[in-house]
Amino acid sequence: MQHAVASIGGDGIGPEILSAGREVLDAAGERFGFDIAWTEFDVGAERYLATGELLTEDDLRELSKFRAIYFGAIGDERVKPGILEKGILLAIRFYFDQFVNLRPIKLLEGVETPLANKGPEDVDFVVVRENTEDFYVGIGSRFSGVREEKDLEIIRDLYEIRFGLDVETDADEIAYQIGVITRPGAERVIRYAFDTAMAREKKVTSVDKANVLSDVYGLWRDVFSDVAAGYPGVSTEFNFVDAVTMWFVKNPEWFDVVVTPNMFGDIITDLGAMIQGGLGLAPGGNINPAGTSMFEPIHGSAPKYRGKDIANPLATIWAGSMLLDQIGEHEAAKAVLSAIEKSIIEGFVTRDMGGAKKTSEVGRHVAALVKTV
Ligand code: IPM
Ligand code: MN
Repeated sequence: MQHAVASIGGDGIGPEILSAGREVLDAAGERFGFDIAWTEFDVGAERYLATGELLTEDDLRELSKFRAIYFGAIGDERVKPGILEKGILLAIRFYFDQFVNLRPIKLLEGVETPLANKGPEDVDFVVVRENTEDFYVGIGSRFSGVREEKDLEIIRDLYEIRFGLDVETDADEIAYQIGVITRPGAERVIRYAFDTAMAREKKVTSVDKANVLSDVYGLWRDVFSDVAAGYPGVSTEFNFVDAVTMWFVKNPEWFDVVVTPNMFGDIITDLGAMIQGGLGLAPGGNINPAGTSMFEPIHGSAPKYRGKDIANPLATIWAGSMLLDQIGEHEAAKAVLSAIEKSIIEGFVTRDMGGAKKTSEVGRHVAALVKTV
């Protein structure tokens, strides 16, 4: 059996951690009887600085031939923040309509959590983050002075009432950004969350802010309730996003599957990363179940560690395990996660986890373990 997988190392530590991940996936293939044919794509800051290109139509057309993309990291101090993130990472998520951002929050055996008196049995849930709507749709504007659009009347009123200034003559800068939730957009991701819960503890928590942003998240809640009606065996609850940050810390054992709009999902999964032992251990999958999905560590490119062979590759290797799951190699996916866990228990880890091993050494070791676990 052969799987074709696209590989994008990207910037900073991206290429090093991805090569460790590929070594592990190749080893899993040897054990479980499949072969991965890798195709590398040159995408990232170097190319952008040299040619001005981020992702071309050609790149996207080529990438669309793959069911899975294995992604390292992007971000470079020579490029203004936002350009690579929007032009590459978000571009791939949107172009391939990767509407699920799946982020397991699982404390592995042997990993220290900053939460007192909590262990692996307490921290084990998944966040299903909507990945194509909300405040990420890119509708907004920043301007000075007056604009004619009727929608802006309310902004005009706010400005004049609060500052006692005439927006026509005295207006300084104003900016706004709009969040969008659509019924089909919410429905597909919420359904994915319920399907995920069916194979777990059968509990889904919606995280939103329907008490204040009642248009967008009011619709989100309605859709959640409608979908829930089709899953009578699954228990449900609503949490507001501010409250959920408390509960993640105080009672992480309450959660099984958490489903949430894009921006809240971004924020709470960094908190989730911390309670599972840090960004070095937090993977993510950008999933289009019927199309091209992309798997990546949720951390950035850490440019100051570039080329030093010291970055922790475990989040990337774990993302590789998720990739294997997505392409149907479930046994191999499990073995990769067990191998990660074993390496941690043995203390065969990088500096950030209290060890002394190099990125490449951890990759090689987990690759060896994957053949025996
Ligand atoms: C993430 C990142 C991205 C996001 C950025 C880099 C665009 O923070 O994957 O969580 O906001 O989704
Ligand atoms: Mn983030």
